[in-house]
Amino acid sequence: MKVLITRKIPQSGIRVLQSHKDIELDYRQGAPLSDAELKEAISDVDVLVPVIPDKITKEVIEAGKNLKLIATYSVGYDHIDIETATAKGIYVSNTPGDLTEAVAEHSLAMMMALGRRIVEADRFCRGKQYKYWDPMIFVGPKFMGKTLGLIGFGRIGQFFARFARNGLGMNIIYSDVSQKIEAENLLDAKRVDLDTLLNESDVISIHCNLCEETKHMIDYEELKKMKPNALIINTARGPIIDERALVTGLKEGLIAGVALDVFEEEPKIHPDLMKMDNVVLTPHIGSATWEARIQMSNMVAENVIDVLVDNKPPRYIVNKELIKDSVKSIA
Ligand code: DGY
Repeated sequence: MKVLITRKIPQSGIRVLQSHKDIELDYRQGAPLSDAELKEAISDVDVLVPVIPDKITKEVIEAGKNLKLIATYSVGYDHIDIETATAKGIYVSNTPGDLTEAVAEHSLAMMMALGRRIVEADRFCRGKQYKYWDPMIFVGPKFMGKTLGLIGFGRIGQFFARFARNGLGMNIIYSDVSQKIEAENLLDAKRVDLDTLLNESDVISIHCNLCEETKHMIDYEELKKMKPNALIINTARGPIIDERALVTGLKEGLIAGVALDVFEEEPKIHPDLMKMDNVVLTPHIGSATWEARIQMSNMVAENVIDVLVDNKPPRYIVNKELIKDSVKSIA
């Protein structure tokens, strides 16, 4: 039974897979595979373990003649054609819940870095521009008492709200398809419609999934509804913001700044964003804590063992239509 792992991941899950004599690993640890390389490599494998930038299209899935499981090393699965996989009876699994704290911490770090102008100030020091203390440089907003608006109030959004509410005394509002009563009570949070959130928030942080409904959810018209001092944080998925509209909005001063961990066409970044001081950029590292990444590796191994060794559906299954019985899944 063959498992293709497209990139180097923490050893913990690899060791679990290696302990099963019947499992043969095709473990690629170099540069990302091109589309053609992926199609060739997948031809005789039982399980594919891709990462977020691998585009698992209909054509790639169809090239996997023996494919039983796509066990993505991620929570998100918008890079996989789930419909095709499901139609072919191929399980898709993910690693839910493992990176909640990591991404929430990164969102907090992005907010603080942007507001307190840490990256700009660092560049200033390294550029040997620090000649004397100046009361008027790198002044930013205080967060205490300001309003944080969360678009998407699932696990990550709620965790970030905890930091902001309990640590910084921020007011929490959110927009989400469903009401989260327990979290509302815990965090004194209020559910509002998107327009109200855009109007009232000093910081807007995005934590929803990418789907047809959320693609370009933030475009030029939405930017016009925000406060001119508003900061936007996106650690979810790039295409939720229309990046060209964002550049225009920043140039026109519709908002004060943006911190992005994700981009519309990763790894490409709009060149104008690179030139702006009120923009903080990181290369999709929201989940990059050792704890989260090791846990992701373990969960991938659990999914693979479920299917290949125990002959049952993966415990963290995405396409639940393929199973009748309830499984342990917190997706
Ligand atoms: C995910 O898992 O979906 C993150 O975006 C990458 O770790």
